[in-house]
Amino acid sequence: MPGTCVIGLQWGDEAKGKLVDILTADHEIVVRYAGGANAGHTVVSGGQKWKLSLIPSGILRDGVACVVTGGVVLDPASVIAEIDGLESRGVQIAGKLRISDRAHVVFPWHVAEDRILDGSVSGGEAIGTTGRGIGPCYRDKVGRALAIRLGDLYRADLRDTIAHIAGLKNRLLTAWQGSGAAPAPLDPSAIHAQYMLYAERLRPFVCDTTAFLLDAVEDGRPILFEGAQGALLDIDHGTFPYVTSSNSSGLGVASGSGVPGRWVDRVIGVVKAYSTRVGGGPLPTEQDNAIGQRIRDRGNEYGTVTRRPRRCGWFDAVAARYTARLSGVDEIAVMLLDVLAGFDELEICSAYEIDGVRTTQFPSQIDDLRKAVPVYETLPGWSEELTDVRSYAALPAAARRYVERIGELLGRPVSFVSVGPDRDQTIFCETAARDSRPWPRPQTRTPAPA
Ligand code: GDP
Ligand code: IMO
Ligand code: MG
Repeated sequence: MPGTCVIGLQWGDEAKGKLVDILTADHEIVVRYAGGANAGHTVVSGGQKWKLSLIPSGILRDGVACVVTGGVVLDPASVIAEIDGLESRGVQIAGKLRISDRAHVVFPWHVAEDRILDGSVSGGEAIGTTGRGIGPCYRDKVGRALAIRLGDLYRADLRDTIAHIAGLKNRLLTAWQGSGAAPAPLDPSAIHAQYMLYAERLRPFVCDTTAFLLDAVEDGRPILFEGAQGALLDIDHGTFPYVTSSNSSGLGVASGSGVPGRWVDRVIGVVKAYSTRVGGGPLPTEQDNAIGQRIRDRGNEYGTVTRRPRRCGWFDAVAARYTARLSGVDEIAVMLLDVLAGFDELEICSAYEIDGVRTTQFPSQIDDLRKAVPVYETLPGWSEELTDVRSYAALPAAARRYVERIGELLGRPVSFVSVGPDRDQTIFCETAARDSRPWPRPQTRTPAPA
């Protein structure tokens, strides 16, 4: 069974949506398995732009089953708005979309908690969440006592459950708010009535998606798993605490979808040709200067979900190599290469210096990452615009060299290069890196515990 997965190797927004849309042509089923309405995935085709959040980017192709699994936290209002928006533009949803009855449901208290707590949890710089209630909903999932899953919306005791949880949440929210303006109290009756309407609207889509996918696996149907966020935002392996609340690296595919990892035989790691991050936390190669502004302007680097300006910097091969290994990546897609045209020289970070010690190992502690001074390699830039280039050979030599160097540093072949947002602006390539693994073994091995 050919199972493919697309994983962002940076801090999100690597153009996963574009790649998923392209790869959907070769798959029967597309699966979103983690995250929630914090994701914003863009697909551009034939001059039309589509912004997807909870619904898999495969929905734009006919005859493809799209599955939102139990690993996702589902905001019913968001997904209904998305369904309505797609249907109003002529995209068929009925019969194509399945949503897991195991998915945990985002409630208004989660959004309220997210807004109140985001500034204080890390004791310093705010995480800068998307404010969509993602972290609080996952926290309630793990805590169990205050969690409501999609399947629970159809239970007779839903009114009582909401009344119980809303009562507790009202007290918690008031306490958390502290001296600030008191939050508007949650009205359990109104919430119940609203969520009953949501439940009815979603009823045709709700099912046991794990059973559906396990049947599909046994039937040999090709499945495409669409990562959300990026591996550096992974709750366990990312730049904690400046992360999201799910396993957004390749490690989350199995737990989020219910499909064992052994069925995924192709893992594509997606990187931008540079680095971006939205929200708080260290970004070692950040260029808070004219270089970063040029990248932001040319790449239109403003958040798909929140429209916040994204922080921009040079490509960080230490970070992306770490996440490529972590996610079991077989091949690399280098996206937004066109954005880098016009620089005389380009920098790639190939090592960090931390406390004067050079390392190629991505630090596990945020304080070390904060101290990391990038060691750059300088490569020649190119002046030509790339947006009309359609073959690898037609890229300027400097652009080819840049892509090949990314492949070399990550130790994986580059099989896609993207030179614009449109489906057509994609180069399918074989590079010199395919058979080489030139990345030297890290000089700094994992230190023994003190
Ligand atoms: P995702 O969250 O990983 O799916 O990425 P987003 O959709 O949030 O952000 C990627 C942005 O880059 C979107 O606006 C895309 O339309 C755009 N995009 C995708 N590929 C390219 C490319 O090769 N060049 C340029 N200039 N833009 C691209
Ligand atoms: P896609 O799928 C970029 C970031 C937020 C914040 C941190 C935690 O479009 O790549 P959360 O709301 O999840 O608790 O926020 O994670 N973040 C993203 N950044 N792309 C995303 O998704 C993101 N999803 C969350 O900005 O720093
Ligand atoms: Mg995005």
